Amino acid sequence: MVILLRDDADEKAVAAALQGLGLWTRALTPDAGGPRMFEVETQSAHVSAELILAVPGVAHVAERKSPHPLVDALAEQYLVRCRSGADVWLGGDRTVLIAGPCAVESESQIQTIAGLCAAAGAQMLRGGAFKPRTSPYSFNGQGDEALKWLAAAAAEHGLGVVTEAMSELHVEAVAQVADIIQVGSRNMQNFALLAAVGRTGRPALLKRARGVGIEEWLLAGEHLLRHGCPYVVFCERGIAGPNAEMRNTLDLAAVAYLRHILKLPVAVDPSHGVGRRDLVLPLAKASAAAGASIILVETHDQPAQARSDGAQALLPHQLTELSVALDLEPVEPPSASHTGYTSRFSEFYKKSVQERRRVLTRQLGLSPATQRYLREGTLDLGVADHMTENVISTFALPLSLGLNFRINGRDHLIPMVVEEPSVVAACSNAARMVRASGGFRGDATRSVMTGQVQFDRVPNIAEAAKILRDRRDEIIALANEAIPRMVARGGGCVDADTRELDEASGLLVLHLYVDVGDAMGANVVDTVAEKLAPVVQSWIGGHIGLRILSNLPLRRLVHIECDVTAEMLGGEELADGVARASSFAEMDPFRASTHNKGIMNGIDAVALALGQDWRAIEAGAHAFAGLGREYRPLATWSRTATGLRGVMEMPLAIGTVGGSVQAHPGVRAAMELVRVDGARQLAVVMAAAGLASNLAALRALAGEGIQQGHMRLHARKSEILAAASGILPSRPTHA
Ligand code: MEV
Repeated sequence: MVILLRDDADEKAVAAALQGLGLWTRALTPDAGGPRMFEVETQSAHVSAELILAVPGVAHVAERKSPHPLVDALAEQYLVRCRSGADVWLGGDRTVLIAGPCAVESESQIQTIAGLCAAAGAQMLRGGAFKPRTSPYSFNGQGDEALKWLAAAAAEHGLGVVTEAMSELHVEAVAQVADIIQVGSRNMQNFALLAAVGRTGRPALLKRARGVGIEEWLLAGEHLLRHGCPYVVFCERGIAGPNAEMRNTLDLAAVAYLRHILKLPVAVDPSHGVGRRDLVLPLAKASAAAGASIILVETHDQPAQARSDGAQALLPHQLTELSVALDLEPVEPPSASHTGYTSRFSEFYKKSVQERRRVLTRQLGLSPATQRYLREGTLDLGVADHMTENVISTFALPLSLGLNFRINGRDHLIPMVVEEPSVVAACSNAARMVRASGGFRGDATRSVMTGQVQFDRVPNIAEAAKILRDRRDEIIALANEAIPRMVARGGGCVDADTRELDEASGLLVLHLYVDVGDAMGANVVDTVAEKLAPVVQSWIGGHIGLRILSNLPLRRLVHIECDVTAEMLGGEELADGVARASSFAEMDPFRASTHNKGIMNGIDAVALALGQDWRAIEAGAHAFAGLGREYRPLATWSRTATGLRGVMEMPLAIGTVGGSVQAHPGVRAAMELVRVDGARQLAVVMAAAGLASNLAALRALAGEGIQQGHMRLHARKSEILAAASGILPSRPTHA
């Protein structure tokens, strides 16, 4: 039995824990960068894999039933984070298409072909910079120059790169560019090369040599893994066979065996498998059916002019056919011409989900990473595992778009994640009405968060407060010393004051006001509070209590307002009804809480889509609504000569940098859709969604009642749930 250790495992502690279970182990020394392993001695006790896996630091347990334990332990799926920003899941539910020319011939050739590949839905670009050729007189690649062209073309089109390292001499240069390093079939048993590729720490695609059996192929993979390669994909590309009509004989039985019996990641290269383009498509389909989750093909825009292997290169339309057969969705190159950013899409709700994405991409020119996220909507488990603790899976909700928003003279598409039907439709509808009167107008204060430091049992809180007032500048300077990076970005502590809460218990609170720029700011403020506490204590005595931000950031407010005509709203009676509903909320906290819930329907949905701390937002909103008086509505509506004016002010602690904003690909996609240039603008956009949501709710309540529209959509949802087939019918839901 072989036990693999986690990267961060303490080898001695693991060995001791295993010994405690009755297992005597011998460390298998890895080469530089390779995974650390223990071999369990045969005289050890019999212990179940579950118990061994429960030992901290143990990553995997494999029976040593074969000479390639590392291959046996390979996960079925693996995420390749490509330099272009694309995330490619190998071995997942979706087939990965790797396409490109046999050889990178020129800068313009690879640019053109990369565009074709991306447009066809390929996730990775292949192309040889160093070409092994049977004849020494054949074209053998453009070398280092070709690597540069390949990297640029992949970056331009958001593709990953697969390219071959032909000798140890090229490995380093190839590893600078390749997201997956290919080891060619002629080199499958070049052990020095395998070791060198392994040491780069990059995943590898290992082609099977023409004349070898499966066991030798797996052992070649073991060489790669043993030397530090994190993942190997086994690529079948044809073995020697009797058919002169074909270049090779594609061994699909081996593909099925690797995938279904050995549960290994397997790719097929049908281009080399048959050597003729007219048979590539049927063989690619057969490969996928046999279990290949990765298809690697050669393609060329002008195969007749190709400097190598032109006969097997797919024509562009054949590549598209292949992509359709593999059920891939094309990704538009970012350089394609687009109509421009807008929040208006006619009859968006009538389209299928796929059509909506297509329209959006064509109109806005979304980055390939965003297009791919929208298509797949997944969160990598590795990323999830770093976000919180005890992760066992991920959890998805619909990502929708709030339409028609015009805010401060600019359109904004508003990404929204919410489980409640009608919120997105209602918001978009209200935004359409407001748009007719010029849209929303808003502004946000500087992003000043409040940090609190609690001091108990201070001997004289009035005197202590005076000391802190007198030393205010010193406090600010000390605070800023703790957060030099924030200060360098133009933020930092801007003010400090005190709250004398209870003379009897000596409770005094120091407030620190910190401009956190485009961040949400919790970490920055907590850092400052913790840094200052002991210094201040040395001045005023007492005991240090809590040091934490306040979720009522009164110096971080957003103001939003809008007009809507009675005509747009549906008549004078409805406009009166909305104004009366607003007065009702001003007079009655029971109503105000529901009124505010309607506002938060919009704000929370945007907060979720954009990876914000919505609990902090909720806490701030409701504390503000009840601040120093009876709980009140955050937004109010009053009659104007032409209709209604809505006004809202509330704290909004949100960020466009740091936290989940950077880690979650869905949040990055949502940020690309909303197009804001920082936290203050985002606060205004979120507030507009809240005010729109409020208007829509009040209009419905003042008119036909909430149930009619709401229940129509609820009925639709129940229908879908009842169908419970897992396949949701794609049909219009609402206007
Ligand atoms: C439902 O999610 C929200 C409403 O109750 C808001 C309101 O009453 O204003 C409709």
